[in-house]
Amino acid sequence: MTGKDEYYNRAKQEGYRARSAYKLKQLDETADLLGRGDTVVDLGAAPGGWLQVAAERVGSEGRLVGVDRQRIDPIETEATVECLRGDVTEDRTHERIAAAVEESADLVVSDMAPNVTGEYNVDHARSVYLVRQALAVATAVLRPGGDFLAKVFDGRDLEELIGDAESEFEYVREVRPEASRDASSELYLIGKGRLTAPVRAGEELTVEIVDVGDEGDGIARVEGFTLFVPGAEVGERRAVRVTEVQPRYGFTQPVE
Ligand SMILES: C[S@@+](CC[C@H](N)C(=O)[O-])C[C@H]1O[C@@H](n2cnc3c(N)ncnc32)[C@H](O)[C@@H]1O
Repeated sequence: MTGKDEYYNRAKQEGYRARSAYKLKQLDETADLLGRGDTVVDLGAAPGGWLQVAAERVGSEGRLVGVDRQRIDPIETEATVECLRGDVTEDRTHERIAAAVEESADLVVSDMAPNVTGEYNVDHARSVYLVRQALAVATAVLRPGGDFLAKVFDGRDLEELIGDAESEFEYVREVRPEASRDASSELYLIGKGRLTAPVRAGEELTVEIVDVGDEGDGIARVEGFTLFVPGAEVGERRAVRVTEVQPRYGFTQPVE
């Protein structure tokens, strides 16, 4: 199909700069990404379709930072929008993004795509590289519990990429929005719940119980991060295995 399909026509009629606006709408409905007042970083944001959708959702208290090698024309919105012209594969662009979000971001999205060569493995590898750059931005600026969304072309390095993303988020899922063209190899990775914990599920360690939680579990702290230790009392030292990590606390079981 040519570019002039249903979503192309809708975008024209509804005033969106790109048909991809509908992909973000569908991804947001699927994964609950955008919230009022959020700070959002949009990588590969030109011409600005995603920025328009994000601006509607975050509202006047929201803040958007759009980044692209191409110029992005100003967006008419009540949200605060800053557009940076730069290459996301360069360190200095990462520094400019970190400065622009001020404290931290609630969501980092990337619709970046490489210039396509037609050689499947080359295009896939370049796309994975761009996602890794986006992931580096996300891990630098996301608040604990913040979310990540990135377009990637399917291929042989996808599983490894997902594995690496999984260690940074509570969970990672793959979504193919309906608004993506049928024959396209593109899909979107969604990382929910940025983990900043100093421990990971499966890790074994010895902890000291310093408090007791509302439900009677012992509480240990690792670099300020809370771990719940069932059946333990204040002052005890316990060998535990981490069973689950959430953005702000984790659960453990005793190691026999
Ligand atoms: C599919 S378009 C994004 C469309 C956008 N989401 C919208 O709704 O308007 C992909 C964009 O990624 C940008 N891009 C690709 N590689 C980039 C890089 N290394 N740094 C910055 N932008 C990049 C391209 O310039 C292009 O504008």
